[in-house]
Amino acid sequence: MALENHGLQPDHGPVLVTGATGGVGSIATTVLARNGYEVACVTGRPENEDYLKKLGASQIVDRDRLSTVSQKPLEAATWAGCVDAVGGTMLARIIGQMKYGSSIAAVGLAGGAALPTNVMPFLLRGMNLLGIDNVMQPFDNRQAA
Ligand SMILES: NC(=O)c1ccc[n+]([C@@H]2O[C@H](COP(=O)([O-])OP(=O)(O)OC[C@H]3O[C@@H](n4cnc5c(N)ncnc54)[C@H](OP(=O)(O)O)[C@@H]3O)[C@@H](O)[C@H]2O)c1
Repeated sequence: MALENHGLQPDHGPVLVTGATGGVGSIATTVLARNGYEVACVTGRPENEDYLKKLGASQIVDRDRLSTVSQKPLEAATWAGCVDAVGGTMLARIIGQMKYGSSIAAVGLAGGAALPTNVMPFLLRGMNLLGIDNVMQPFDNRQAA
């Protein structure tokens, strides 16, 4: 909902989901796929590829590909959106791979709370980092969900 409220549409390109075999990731994958999005799932458990594809994933990304900090402030603009359950270095890496004007819904910290990033992707690509909290969500939003 947060991503769509910030303009995401299915024809914008692939949406990345991290921690994909976990609770948040599995639900995010299912909801995105059922709403017509192309979903790329990051997982450290490639043996669960069939499970993720049944949920609607069209692409599996090995966790190792995103587990280190890039020396470049910006990488190829790849993802139209992201639901991130992992945080840490993975989130920092993904921030540099987002398309212009896109958003990340930052949900979790399974991989750590530190965020070793820089402001360049925000300034040069106008991307947004959206904080998601479920504890204090207004009732109207819960009903809409
Ligand atoms: N903001 C909110 O309101 C809210 C609500 C619910 C949950 N959360 C937070 O969201 C996060 C995920 O919750 P969950 O219930 O989905 O947990 P979960 O079922 O344990 O799933 C977390 C997933 O993250 C991946 N992961 C675990 N350790 C990792 C690491 N060191 N590096 C990279 N990936 C790692 C694993 O997926 P793969 O094996 O597929 O890689 C794992 O299945 C937690 O931090 C939780 O506290 C926040």
